[in-house]
Amino acid sequence: MNTLNHLAIIMDGNGRWAKLNKLPRTAGHYKGVEVLRSITIYANKLGIKCLTVYAFSTENWKRSAEEVNYIMSLPKIFFSSYIKELMENNVKVMIIGDRDKIPAETMKVIDDAIDTTKNNTGLILNFAFNYGARDEIVKAAKKYAEDYKNGIVNDLDEESFSNYLYTAGLPEVDLLIRTGSEMRLSNFLLYQLAYSEFVVVDTLWPDFSNEVLDECIAEYQSRKRNFGGRDETKSN
Ligand code: FPP
Repeated sequence: MNTLNHLAIIMDGNGRWAKLNKLPRTAGHYKGVEVLRSITIYANKLGIKCLTVYAFSTENWKRSAEEVNYIMSLPKIFFSSYIKELMENNVKVMIIGDRDKIPAETMKVIDDAIDTTKNNTGLILNFAFNYGARDEIVKAAKKYAEDYKNGIVNDLDEESFSNYLYTAGLPEVDLLIRTGSEMRLSNFLLYQLAYSEFVVVDTLWPDFSNEVLDECIAEYQSRKRNFGGRDETKSN
């Protein structure tokens, strides 16, 4: 049985779902928020320790102002509806990404949720919000260089470098699920996904469900993880 401590999800397909249902794109994001709520509660019940979700990338600013503004309002919609339930389920909220460019009122809602849930010990719901992996790695390298110059550190290896990433202290990502059938990483967790298993499903994020998550986990459990070592069960 493969351990599943950290699940990461690229929640793709909100726009396509909206189009299929003859609705504005924003309706796809709204439905996506409801799905995120139920997957969070379910993942916590399954004993998963950390759920990192790609909610807004550093490239998503290129979308229309209307859509960007709507996505910036999603934390308010999500937390005002579900903070009570998150507390009842012992869920702790975190964020990774560049906070500086996020509108102050959106950041306040997120920081309030982080503060309210800070002593919870269940699942960590980690929002990648204004997140880009290349940006994260460059920032980490800059911070390391600064610490080196100031004599705070004098050596760099894979483990110590991880401590400069936004995900410092979180368990290794075991499984990445991407909904909406595209086979790409879209600048998500490039360093952290080195040995993760990938599952891509056709299901669009607003149609994702506990049952589809079960299927993804069953697929993950069928994989033989060898972290770059040799698989002794193969003949050559
Ligand atoms: C990608 O679908 C989805 C997003 C850019 C936004 C995802 C956000 C959520 C599901 C909710 C996050 C919740 C909070 C509280 C912030 P797309 O629009 O790229 O879909 P498409 O590929 O079909 O166009």
